Amino acid sequence: MAEPRRTRVPLIADVDTGIDDSLALLYLMASPEAELLAITCTAGNVAARQVAKNNLAWLELCDYADVEVALGAEVPIVQPLVTTEETHGPQGIGYAELPEPTRPLSSRHATEVWIDNARRRPGEITGLITGPLTNLALAVKLEPELPLLLKRIVIMGGAFNHPGNTRPTTEWNIAVDPDAAKIVFDAFSVVPEDRRPVVCALDVTERIVMTPAHIAELAEVAGSTPAEVVSPDDEPGTRSTASNPVVRHLSDAVRFYMEFHRAYDQGGFIAHMHDPFAAAVALDPSLATTRAATVDLELAGTLTRGQTVADWRGMWGRGPNADIVVDTDPDEFFRRTIERVGALARSIA
Ligand code: BDR
Ligand code: CA
Repeated sequence: MAEPRRTRVPLIADVDTGIDDSLALLYLMASPEAELLAITCTAGNVAARQVAKNNLAWLELCDYADVEVALGAEVPIVQPLVTTEETHGPQGIGYAELPEPTRPLSSRHATEVWIDNARRRPGEITGLITGPLTNLALAVKLEPELPLLLKRIVIMGGAFNHPGNTRPTTEWNIAVDPDAAKIVFDAFSVVPEDRRPVVCALDVTERIVMTPAHIAELAEVAGSTPAEVVSPDDEPGTRSTASNPVVRHLSDAVRFYMEFHRAYDQGGFIAHMHDPFAAAVALDPSLATTRAATVDLELAGTLTRGQTVADWRGMWGRGPNADIVVDTDPDEFFRRTIERVGALARSIA
């Protein structure tokens, strides 16, 4: 698949960093067309303040521009917060131990950052959300015009014709705050066809399978030594000795994720790179084949609360409010990731 000409994409990323969120941030930092306006932090994989710390630390490690990092919701809208350190490690970045960030957090709340940017550049900004939808839902409550002020949003979340990864029918980001997801899908029902939310659900993101070979290739592009070998036979918790700091920390983070996937019967010693895929789609929607549907949330089910339900055939008599990703080329995604993030890492060494 040929890459289209790169035009600048002004972007706000809302994340719950998170191992795969980390690679999503690296992908954005490594992409010259990404005009990263702000990163907003939500509680999810780990507590929101830890998310903020992780984001600042990755930015600083990569010597990236002084992007505003704003704290957002520390708890979901209705239900209590549940985090998932067993998936992402005690700090949310697996075995990586990033240097303490020295950059300060923004004094603004995440919702203010979303609303202010969107008002200043109506119709221009793409929103990428790779965590629970809490911040965006709160922002929509404060500024109901937000869906029309943004160019488009790309969401990592949900499971449609696919099992959940948190409960049998529920994906993690939605499970953490299903009420927020309901608010967002309802609010974005008003946007025109060419601005419908793009939804990267487990149906496709579980096909974005990172293997140890991808890490080795990325390290090679980065010029890191010695060859980066992350082996299923290594002692759990083995640490990288890579000369390149970005490679070293990324490898330590992803190793934890691979151990998690193996331990929880998620396909072996691999890692599903949900969030970086959504980041790549936010920069280049042509990477994804989508199908329009009307998406709503199950909030009442005793077993299915947080299930994303897609009406593909208009049975509810409501127009589509989402473009669900139904296909992609995972090899092309990894080609871009290795090339871009490898080059970013090389520039840091
Ligand atoms: C999503 O859940 C989180 O654990 C990941 O970071 C990703 O955003 C996948 O279900
Ligand atoms: Ca995430």
